[in-house]
Amino acid sequence: MKIRVLGSAAGGGFPQWNCNCPNCKGVRAGRPGLSRRTQSSIAVSADGQRWTLVNASPDLLQQLQDFPGSWPAGGLRGCGIESVVLVDAQIDHTTGLYMLREKGSPWPIWTTDPVYEDLTRGNPILHLLEHYCGVARQPIPLDGRPFHPEGTATLAWHAMPLRSAAPPYSPHRNAPVAGDNVGLTIEDPATGGRVFYAPGLAEVDDAVFAAMSAADCVMVDGTFWTDDEMIALGLSKKRARDIGHLAQSGPGGMIEQLARLPRHVRRILIHINNTNPILDESSTERAILAAAGIEVAYDGMEIER
Ligand code: MLT
Ligand code: MN
Ligand code: ZN
Repeated sequence: MKIRVLGSAAGGGFPQWNCNCPNCKGVRAGRPGLSRRTQSSIAVSADGQRWTLVNASPDLLQQLQDFPGSWPAGGLRGCGIESVVLVDAQIDHTTGLYMLREKGSPWPIWTTDPVYEDLTRGNPILHLLEHYCGVARQPIPLDGRPFHPEGTATLAWHAMPLRSAAPPYSPHRNAPVAGDNVGLTIEDPATGGRVFYAPGLAEVDDAVFAAMSAADCVMVDGTFWTDDEMIALGLSKKRARDIGHLAQSGPGGMIEQLARLPRHVRRILIHINNTNPILDESSTERAILAAAGIEVAYDGMEIER
């Protein structure tokens, strides 16, 4: 299987349009060691020809222009992407659906029931798309049964409920239900490759750890370095955990969790917030990750498993 990182940043992107934190200021000024990043999305393929989009970011048009695998191959209209899988109903994972409206037939869009509810009520984007291309909604099972999105049906996709957070507009924001957020395990029977993907992850419980350990590559929540990162910068009153993200540093943090994995598992952080010091390749935080064998995803990164 092939995975292409379309967008490695968290909501807001890097730099964020209204942010003057040291990272955002630095990347605008062209400081070495900092690279621009678009918002959270990956594409997955079994054969490198037919793709499933996982999450549709607000930056989708730019991401598709930068990704030849998505370009129309034959005929007057077309796209290498044949289906969409959503891990949650967050703005940074769904707004790009508006940009896909020119398709000539309904988009197969895979969601859990709670995500479908949010995307037809609080943010009724799936209803709205009925006036354009239409939506062929497909249910993501939460009981561990495999599902097979169009274009990548030879892969076995599995979803597991995660403790993270529903979007601020969701009635589930303060009353979470299973399926507001899922982690995906994508398995390629042809190669034996197995990737675990969870860009929003507040807690690594036993079930999540088991799924991570069974993979040979994990792409997990890289949003914040410290739990109080936004508070310390004066940007928010909320901790990382309050909004559904496990910080990398500190007791029980993502670095400690990743250290418990079997040695052969490739470790990649994704969905990185613009405030996170790991975005600076010359930072001590980045050196700590490197020493722990942890990679930081970037736009255009390709993984083959
Ligand atoms: C998140 O990952 O917590 C959200 O996407 C934040 C946001 O809406 O920007
Ligand atoms: Mn996000
Ligand atoms: Zn910033």
